[in-house]
Amino acid sequence: MPGIALVGTQWGDEGKGKVTDLLAEKTDLVVRYQGGNNAGHTIVVEGERYALHLVPTGILYPHCVPVIGPGVVVNPSVLIEELENLSSRGIDTTRLLLSGNAHLIMPYHLELDRVTERRLGKNRLGTTKRGIGPAYADKATRIGLRVQDLLDPKIFSAKLEVALKEKNLFLTRVYGRLPMDQAEIEDAYLGFAETLAPHISDTDTVIHQALDADKTVLFEGAQATMLDLDHGTYPFVTSSNPVAGGACAGAGVGPLDIQRIIGISKAYCTRVGSGPFPSEADPADGEILVEAGQEYGTTTGRKRRCGWFDAVAGRFAARLNTLTEVVITKLDVLSAFEKIKVCVAYEFEGQRHEHMPPNQTIFNKCKPVYEELPGWSQDITGARETEDLPKEARAYLELLEELLATPISWVSVGPSRDEIVRLREMS
Ligand code: GDP
Ligand code: IMO
Ligand code: MG
Repeated sequence: MPGIALVGTQWGDEGKGKVTDLLAEKTDLVVRYQGGNNAGHTIVVEGERYALHLVPTGILYPHCVPVIGPGVVVNPSVLIEELENLSSRGIDTTRLLLSGNAHLIMPYHLELDRVTERRLGKNRLGTTKRGIGPAYADKATRIGLRVQDLLDPKIFSAKLEVALKEKNLFLTRVYGRLPMDQAEIEDAYLGFAETLAPHISDTDTVIHQALDADKTVLFEGAQATMLDLDHGTYPFVTSSNPVAGGACAGAGVGPLDIQRIIGISKAYCTRVGSGPFPSEADPADGEILVEAGQEYGTTTGRKRRCGWFDAVAGRFAARLNTLTEVVITKLDVLSAFEKIKVCVAYEFEGQRHEHMPPNQTIFNKCKPVYEELPGWSQDITGARETEDLPKEARAYLELLEELLATPISWVSVGPSRDEIVRLREMS
């Protein structure tokens, strides 16, 4: 007690990093439970910007233990580089714990991610090309290599041989690429093992002991509900389960270990990569959102597609994750508009859908039904109390709260730690 899960409710980049960082101030452990370095979580502390991809956000507080759980896929060279970068900026990284059961992203996963996307052509997913899908696929077909294999060169070599035989057939025969060399991969990975060995631990036990000792454990989601492999806009999704339920399997806790589930939503919507996006804005409004919100990917630098708040997806996320509360981020970005749209339902062949349509044909072709609200057209980045927000902004938040049927705890009005309005204390 208490376990807290923090999840994205849209298509990612909702500002999970900023909110996790705020909560980490009063947290003992921050645990990543899924995804890999496809994530990009930006935190701004006293004008310094940190972009975290694999390392849990708690790393920035000396009292907090950051944990990479078994459900994460780990590219060891990226992890080492990220740790070195943080160290060079004066952050103590020795506390990081890495589950021995987490799977490794291998060089052939990166190559397969690239060539698969190329082969798909106009049907490509727009992945981050970080090898995430191929690494999870190998985990499911049980030819993955795990972090603990790094500690036993013989086992590592034997497992690599099995996997590489298959991968090289694929790479050479299907994709016309050169085969990869076992000795080269082994050398590199056993080198990484030396650096990572002090971090590798039995994270299940560490998390259980913390919960049993009444410490606060925050499960930090990457990606988001609409990118969930089982519940998102398949196939335009990531290959893991970012939903709150995923925290149980990915970190190694039971559902009753989590008492609070916080959903993070932007005050509008964005998505990177391909796939349906019913409330995508017209190009002119989209461009305003891109510029005002600086909507460029933290990981790939790609321009994000922008749209209006989607209450249908929001309601779906609230139910699917059993959210106990919501944090709305980037409300300040909407100051750029005189009128603000909210997608309250979808319409398909004359029928109104207030809940997520049951099949992809409807979701792909539906049109958004918008409600329009007056904007506030003034800078709100200085707001710290509810009363500091213009009445139009408060009306907007009230509408979102009603549509989501979930209380809004905090509202973020800028990227920095202090740019937050606490409407109510978190439950
Ligand atoms: P995450 O992946 O969910 O952690 O989100 P990202 O870090 O990828 O993207 C969110 C971006 O918005 C980052 O650049 C943050 O610094 C920034 N940000 C977070 N909250 C706010 C906010 O309330 N207002 C503004 N203007 N920017 C914000
Ligand atoms: P954070 O944690 C936004 C998207 C990719 C692509 C799809 C599949 O920063 O919110 P993948 O590389 O995972 O196989 O790509 O998922 N995607 C994200 N979009 N934020 C993310 O992470 C994302 N991680 C993956 O753009 O559409
Ligand atoms: Mg991000």
